[in-house]
Amino acid sequence: MSDNQEKTVDSSRRNWLIATSVAGGVGGVATLVPFVSSLEPSERAKAGGAPVEADISNLKPGEKMTVSWRGLPVWIVRRTPDEMASLEKVKSELADPDSKETFSYSMPEYCQNAFRARAEHKDVLVVVGICTHLGCIPSGPYTANANAALGAEPGFLCPCHGSTYDMSGRVFKNKPAPKNLDVPRFMFVNDTKIVIGKDEKGEA
Ligand code: FES
Repeated sequence: MSDNQEKTVDSSRRNWLIATSVAGGVGGVATLVPFVSSLEPSERAKAGGAPVEADISNLKPGEKMTVSWRGLPVWIVRRTPDEMASLEKVKSELADPDSKETFSYSMPEYCQNAFRARAEHKDVLVVVGICTHLGCIPSGPYTANANAALGAEPGFLCPCHGSTYDMSGRVFKNKPAPKNLDVPRFMFVNDTKIVIGKDEKGEA
């Protein structure tokens, strides 16, 4: 990862922590300060973290699970056939439908496709669940017509300032969030186990 990328990731994480503290009120702020100040270089390296494994054998279509990687919440979503079908339908409403813009991490080449997913498991979405506006954590996935902000399409909603994302984590046009959700490097160990932060090229 380049220095610039590293700075951007640190910035994202800081924003996420700040947003989490604000959401948690005064008590959240009080606990945040010692945590951040304790991140000396060796601790930062530890927090930088190794790849993490996730068992997705119990993840059903329409469900999301979250694992922590490098202090970031990484979502794993198993999309339903309807959610997969929605990806093409919403394309003209998205700010960057082909994910040409980079936020914190470059899009892995194996996810540069219509599903932003591995070809052999295209129903499984893996994204960093941090809004690209100011670092809040979006809610969802919402099914079609379940949320007024998303209307007839399924997706995710950031509660802080109303940015909406489709079922691939691509942001809709004219929202505060400027970029799509990050897709980290990851790989399948087998059909039910994923490693985040590592792929055929090695560790991210
Ligand atoms: S932080 Fe998500 S819309 Fe502002």
